[in-house]
Amino acid sequence: MASPIIAPFPATRLRRLRRTENLRAMVSEVNLTAANLIWPVFVTEVAGAEGEIASMPGVERVTLDGVQRAAERAARLGIPAICVFPHSDQGLRTEACERAWDPENIGNRAIRAIKQAVPDLAVMTDIALDPYNANGHDGIVKDGQILNDETVEALVKMALVQAESGADILGPSDMMDGRIMALRMALEADGHKDVAILSYAAKFASAFYGPFRDAVGASGRLVGDKKTYQINPANRGEALRCVARDLAEGADMVMVKPGQPYLDICRAVKDEFGAPTFAYQVSGEYAMLEGAIRNGWLSRDAMFESLLSFRRAGCDGILSYFAPAVAEMLA
Ligand code: PBG
Repeated sequence: MASPIIAPFPATRLRRLRRTENLRAMVSEVNLTAANLIWPVFVTEVAGAEGEIASMPGVERVTLDGVQRAAERAARLGIPAICVFPHSDQGLRTEACERAWDPENIGNRAIRAIKQAVPDLAVMTDIALDPYNANGHDGIVKDGQILNDETVEALVKMALVQAESGADILGPSDMMDGRIMALRMALEADGHKDVAILSYAAKFASAFYGPFRDAVGASGRLVGDKKTYQINPANRGEALRCVARDLAEGADMVMVKPGQPYLDICRAVKDEFGAPTFAYQVSGEYAMLEGAIRNGWLSRDAMFESLLSFRRAGCDGILSYFAPAVAEMLA
C-alpha cells in the first residue's frame, strides 16, 4: 500500500495572521463603530410608565427629559441618530388613530425635544398607526380587514407632521402598498424635499417583536396578527421585490427586519441594490441576548459578535437597543 504524502509544512498557514491583536486588526474585513448604530428610544407621556421594560432588561421608557438626556448621550458617544418610538396614553388610542397626526402627540414632542437639546443629531421616526390604534394594528381596521389605501392617507398626514416637527429620517414600518411614493410626493409638495425615507422594506411577520409590543403598550390590544401585511418569514424573493419597489418609489435607504434570523436577506439586498442598507436587531433579539448575558450563559462579547454579523452581511448600519452600551465600550 502506498504511503500518504505528508508535506513538510502546511501550504497555507492562516494562523500566522491570527497570532497577535495587531495582526488580527490589520486583516479584519469589517468593523463596527458607533457611526454604524441607530439607537431606538421609547418615549412615554404616561405618568408612572417610565422605567425598565420587563421583557427588555436594561431598556427603559423615558420622559421628554429622558429623551433629551439620551440625545446628549448619543452625541457624546458618536451615535449619529436616535429613532423615537412613542408610548401613548391608552385612553387616547382610537379606531381612527387621529392622534397619529396630532402635532402634540408624544412622538412629535419628542422630536422637538431632541432637536432643541442636540440640533445636529439625526432624528428618525416610525411611521405606522400602532402606537395610537385602539386595536394595536399598523393600519386602519374595518370589519376585521386592514384597509390599505385609507391607511396610506393617514400615514401621509402622520409623516407631514413628523417632518414639520423636525424629523430628518422617516421610517415607514407599516408595510402598506404604495406608501413610499405617497409619502415622497407629499413631502416634496409640502416643502420637505430633504427629509429622507428609510423604508422598512423587508419587514417580516415575526415573533421577535413581542417585547417591543410590551414596550409601546400594544401587546394586550393586538387583535389577530400582522400576517396580511408583513412578509411571510419563508419568502426571500418577496422581500427583494418589496425592496425593489420601495427604492423605485423613492426610498433613500432600506431596512431588513428582524435582523439576525434574516442575514441572508441583508446580504441579498446589499448585493442586488447597493443602496444604504440597515438591519433592525429587534426587541426579541435583544431580549434573547441580554437575557442570556445577564444569566451568565453568554459573555458580553456575544453582543459585539451579533452586531458585527450585520456588517459582514453587508449592512451599513444597525438599529439596536445595544447602541449606547456598545458605543460606550467602543469609546
Ligand atoms: C410597529 C413596529 C414594530 C417594531 C417597530 N415598529 C412592531 C410590529 O410591527 O409589530 C418592532 C421593533 C422591535 O421589535 O424592536 N410598526
